[in-house]
Amino acid sequence: MKQVKLDVENDAGIKYINEDHKAIFNYIEKLQNTAVMPQNYEYAIVILEQFITFFLEHTIKEEQLLRQYLPKEIVDEHALLHQRELQYLDEGLKTLKTNLSSRNIQIVALQLEQEFKNHIYRYDKNIMQKLIDAKK
Ligand SMILES: [Fe+2]
Ligand SMILES: [Fe+2]
Repeated sequence: MKQVKLDVENDAGIKYINEDHKAIFNYIEKLQNTAVMPQNYEYAIVILEQFITFFLEHTIKEEQLLRQYLPKEIVDEHALLHQRELQYLDEGLKTLKTNLSSRNIQIVALQLEQEFKNHIYRYDKNIMQKLIDAKK
């Protein structure tokens, strides 16, 4: 059991993915923080745009890693979830560009937090476990 954990931690691909996941929550936290900076609401849009670019790159890396070991159908299904998250991000950006207020920043940040907790802690966790099992 301990050995398995060690192998996983040493696995460069999975390690990078985990670091990306931490960065995703950092973006959301940064976004939440701008809601209390009235002179700086514009910054929320900048953060969200950077977050979208980062997440897009992350999905490409994650899907590439998954495709090396898992059946096409499983990866395609997961890729659809990434498309859904990208839609949420785009909708959030649209909301802030239309009406940039503390309340909207908070709403968007909260929605994204829930969505990404669900994606990362549930779907990514499950598929990473499948990947680990497939690599054994
Ligand atoms: Fe991910
Ligand atoms: Fe994912």
